[in-house]
Order: sequence, then C-alpha cells, then structure tokens
Amino acid sequence: MQEWEQAEPLIIERGSGPYLIDTEGRKYLDGTSSIWVNLHGHRHPALDRAVKNQLGKIAHSTLLGASNPPAIELARELTRIAPKGLAHVFYSDDGSTAVEVALKMAVQYWQQRHPEAGPKNTFLHLKLAYHGDTIGAVSVGNIELFHARYKPLLFPTVEAEPPYCYRCPLKLTFPSCHMACVDPIEEILSTRHRELAGFIIEPLIQAAAGMITQPAGYLGRVRKLCTKYDVLFIADEVATGFGRTGKMFACQHEGVTPDLMAISKGLTGGYMPLAATLATDEIYRAFLGPYEEFKTFFHGHSYTGNPLGCAVALANLNIFRTAATLAQVRSKITSLSRLLQPLYTLPHVGDIRLQGLMVGIELVQDKTTKEPYPVEARIGHRVAAEAQKRGLLIRPLGNIIVLLPPLSITKNELARMVEILYEAIATQAKEEERDKRRWPRAISS
Ligand SMILES: Cc1ncc(COP(=O)(O)O)c(C=O)c1O
Repeated sequence: MQEWEQAEPLIIERGSGPYLIDTEGRKYLDGTSSIWVNLHGHRHPALDRAVKNQLGKIAHSTLLGASNPPAIELARELTRIAPKGLAHVFYSDDGSTAVEVALKMAVQYWQQRHPEAGPKNTFLHLKLAYHGDTIGAVSVGNIELFHARYKPLLFPTVEAEPPYCYRCPLKLTFPSCHMACVDPIEEILSTRHRELAGFIIEPLIQAAAGMITQPAGYLGRVRKLCTKYDVLFIADEVATGFGRTGKMFACQHEGVTPDLMAISKGLTGGYMPLAATLATDEIYRAFLGPYEEFKTFFHGHSYTGNPLGCAVALANLNIFRTAATLAQVRSKITSLSRLLQPLYTLPHVGDIRLQGLMVGIELVQDKTTKEPYPVEARIGHRVAAEAQKRGLLIRPLGNIIVLLPPLSITKNELARMVEILYEAIATQAKEEERDKRRWPRAISS
C-alpha cells in the first residue's frame, strides 16, 4: 500500500483486442487477460452489441422469485456445454461466491438427502489451493501469504499435499512415482469420509499457487476416489473454464463430471461480473420438499442472474461456435509451448509450466539446487515492471511469472509477448545478481 501510494499509477482508459491503453496513451499487451477473464479481446463488436441490445430492454431485475430470458437461455446453454450430468445452474456474482454456493449446497445436500451419512460438515482440499477471498473460499484455500491472517475466522478443513512435481512434497519423480501423492488422499477419504461433505479442487492446474500443473490422469483418479467414498467432487473451474485449457472445461480432458462445478471469470468473456454453480440432478432433488420443510437453498445475491451479464455470456458462448475458438486455442497452445522453449536457456528459469493458455515460469536463484529467490529480491515484481516498460502487462505470483493471454491472441502477438518476457527475465535476473553483490558491501560500509 505504501509503495502503491508512491508509484505512478497505471490507469487503463481503453482497450482493443489484446491491447490496453492507459490515460497517457501508452499501449500494452494484456498478458493477464485482465486477471484471467478476457477471452475474445477487448471491445469485441458482438459482445459490445449484446450489452447494448440488452440495455435497450432492461439492465437488471431480480432472480429472487422471478427470472429473465437471458438467464434462462444461458442456463440452458451452460448445461449443454458442461460435463454431462450437470443439469442445473445457480447464479451468483464472482468466482468466490460460486465457491461459497458450492460449499453451502454440499453441506445442505447431505443433511437433506442422506442425513444418515453425516454429519458431513467439512471439506478436503489441496495445500496451496486458492478458491477466492471470501471466508468460506479462504477456509478451503491454503496460500499462506493470502490466508494466514484470517485463520481465526476460518472453519476447519482437511488438507492433502498437492502434485507439485517440480518441488514434490514426497521427493519423488513423475512418472516413476506412479502418482504416489494420490495414496494419502485415498487414506484421508477412507478414514474420514463420514465427516467430509466434499473434495474441492482446481482441475488440472492450481492457478494462483503459481500455475502448478497436475500430471495427466490425476484428476480422473481423485474423482473416482470421491465416488468410491461418497464424498462430493467439487470442481472449481473459475480459472480453467471457457477454453483456457483447450477444452471448454478442464474436467473434460479426463472425462470427469463433478457433482458441483463453480464457474465465473471467462463466463462473460471478461465483460461483466457473473458466476454460476452447476449441480447434478441428484443434488438438485435434495432441495425439493413441502413448503414447511424449508428445503430450499437459502442463498441469493442482489445481482444474481443479472440480465446484462447473462446476455453478454450468451454472446460469448456464441463466439466459441462462430470463431471455432477451441480449435484455434489448441493450435495456439502448440505454438506457445514451442515459443517458450528458449526461456529454458536462461540461467534463472527453473521450471516452465503450461496448461493450455496458462503459463507459470518459476524463477530460481540456483537452477541446480532449485533454491528460490528470497522475498527481498522481489524478482517477480521486477520482471513485471520491466515487461511493462516494454509494453506487456503481467502480474506475477511471487517468484512465478504468469502469462495468460486472451484466447483470441494471434500467433504473432503471442510471439511478441514471449519475446518481452525473455528480455524482461534476462535483464532483471542480471540486475538482481548485481544488486546482490552490492548489498553485502552496502551493509558492511
Ligand atoms: C480457481 C479460482 N477460484 C476462485 C477464484 C475467485 O474468483 P473471484 O476473484 O472472481 O472471486 C479464483 C480467482 O482467481 C480462482 O482462480
């Protein structure tokens, strides 16, 4: 906060395609997709039009005791493209609320549908998980820096080690490990399933943890274990949904249907805040009953099912069809993977993790020992500042450089983004070496 007050603020005034333009007229490539939300670029004519058309009808009316045409049509579309079996949609406003809804639904489901199974009031999640910043979402999260201060407010959960292959908590190597990290999860599920309402997971990649990718087959295996032990499988597709990984949803890479699925971010193509929690018919039916039993799901936000958001979300999904977005993304993933190869030659690039158009580049002090940079080196921050000077906006996660371009990025723009990243990492890693040599002298004098 103190530095923010002193620094020159970045104030974005306009955008076009993958570019953002600030109030000084400076143009930047949007390397974060405006925090992982933008898919088809800024000022997309079809999306602009969808908002304007809906404004000509109504901006907002409540979904509490009523509905609106875009919300109905969008729910139909979402159940059509979602993993098979997710047949019901509950709207909210952002990724965190979609997660809160999933957690509350899961607990209430067990109480109302299988009271004999419980009380199932807690959740299993991975260490380093991130599911949002509201208290329930923080409770099932585990990123020390973001979450530690709020511990007194959190409910108890059960944690398992993540499949962080670069720094394997079990000190094993993939694939000879045969995913031994799944065994402790089975152990937890088999011994504690009576208290576990669900297992919440970011499918294929723990994004905010630093783009920690899961080995192929991991997701399918943990899903099967949840079925075996009667624990709901909750997929948080807030970051991975809507084509980010090359399929509409990450779960579809492994043929997984979750019991509950949280979506937001790309849902409106980065235009409006909107979220949804999708549920199976089995879960939906647990909330039916005579009036006096009050089985309803007591949860509703003021802007739930906002017509502007739903209208633009429908237009967003339509672009996937008209522009063959998924096929395009798959070919861009191949290009991106190739473009990133030269970065391995940089002495401080320890690991490059790629899942679809989501990239995490882990910078280390020493490549052989994998020794992380100390906090005071602020290496991620420095690389981001250097990239900004060169016309690329990124937002690092500690020592991990993150690149998440809009899905509509062209291959040339992608190449330019990676080129800037290369230059920014090379320059700042060298400068950091120089600073490091200066520091001890400065201290001793
Ligand atoms: C996997 C995941 N879940 C939930 C959230 C929270 O979403 P929001 O910031 O819209 O509340 C995020 C945000 O980055 C996320 O990456």
